[in-house]
Amino acid sequence: VNTPELVHTVSAVRDAVAAARRRGQAIRLVPTMGALHAGHTSLIGRARADGGFVAVSIFVNPLQFGPSEDFAAYPRDLEGDVAAVARAGGDLIFAPSVEEMYEAIPSLTRVSVAEITEPLCGAARPGHFDGVATVVAKLFAIFEADTAYFGQKDAQQLAVVRRMAQDLSFRTAVVACPTIREADGLAMSSRNAYLTAQERAAAPTLYRALRAAADLVHAGEREPAALRVKLMEVLSSEPRLDVEYAEVRDAGTIERIGTIDGDVLVAVAARLGRARLIDNIVLHVHGDDVDVEAGEIKGDL
Ligand code: PAF
Repeated sequence: VNTPELVHTVSAVRDAVAAARRRGQAIRLVPTMGALHAGHTSLIGRARADGGFVAVSIFVNPLQFGPSEDFAAYPRDLEGDVAAVARAGGDLIFAPSVEEMYEAIPSLTRVSVAEITEPLCGAARPGHFDGVATVVAKLFAIFEADTAYFGQKDAQQLAVVRRMAQDLSFRTAVVACPTIREADGLAMSSRNAYLTAQERAAAPTLYRALRAAADLVHAGEREPAALRVKLMEVLSSEPRLDVEYAEVRDAGTIERIGTIDGDVLVAVAARLGRARLIDNIVLHVHGDDVDVEAGEIKGDL
């Protein structure tokens, strides 16, 4: 197990990245908010497999939390995270303070992506995606990485980051990585730590709803409304879930679609106790041909 270098300042990152470039290494960036789980280590593993210098940022970004959200309560475990990055083969950890990242909060400069940020999670969390786009733009400017890795679990975030990187001409290519799931299908998330035992038992209902929607498409259904009805039917069978949305959208633009064709995002969000859970699958539909991208189950079923 290697020991990753732990740095806290932008200038230390720039030095480490310049040294790696002099050694001829490509720069790989895995942006995280810490509390690392198997989903994160799979991103680091993919970065490692791509070769070069693997950097992980750990920063609970205040800009992306609403005033009534869980910024203060968000799990923080730098020691555990350093060990996880070491096991996954990371070379550098950047764990800045809020002051290192922002002159002032709210920051005067914001990166805002229109349209893609408005529906789904954007509707429930005003300002959230501006906060994400701003911090990811900063990380892209700091690291000037060749590639950066994001989980498919945050499908809308992925679409926002892709568009931001393209629109602002960052050199960094955005790499999407599959959702990693617990043995019962629950998508891994740092926020799963908020769940009580009973809530944890109810949580896989999100994934069951998504699978039921995929089954309909396999059976020939092409109406988005029929999928939404099925999603709600399964989600509402679990009384602990407070459903926020159950939607069928274009996977790239996050726009509504008239028929299920091409790359289609099926996405759900629900509150469960203290946690807000999101999950999705992507359907690739071409005529009768249906390919379901649902991520990877980590444990044994
Ligand atoms: O997905 C996350 O953990 C965060 O939104 C990110 C991309 C690290 C930005 O703070």
